Amino acid sequence: METAVHTLHFLCRAEEIPADTSRRVDIPGFPALAVFNLDGSFFVTDDRCTHGEASLCEGEIDGDLVECPFHQGTFDIRTGKPTGAPCRIALRTYEVAVEQGGVHIRQPE
Ligand code: FES
Repeated sequence: METAVHTLHFLCRAEEIPADTSRRVDIPGFPALAVFNLDGSFFVTDDRCTHGEASLCEGEIDGDLVECPFHQGTFDIRTGKPTGAPCRIALRTYEVAVEQGGVHIRQPE
């Protein structure tokens, strides 16, 4: 049986992102990332809206949705799926691991 090997990429400390807020994080080898804290659960997506050049970390969080600050399109933060026009293309999402107080994304090697 093969065991998948994953690399963890540290993004930030969990305590740096209060509940129901987000923060943009830049790390080498990835596009700008948006780290969301939804009531204590962390989710990571690409920060850039798939409809334009907006940073979703500058948008409003409403429940599980984030509203783009440019044209008010919305995405489901948990799945990346577009939920409101004019957004039609899903956001890339990342597998998150919170370990020892740090928020990481997990990437297969
Ligand atoms: S740039 Fe985000 S909805 Fe247009």
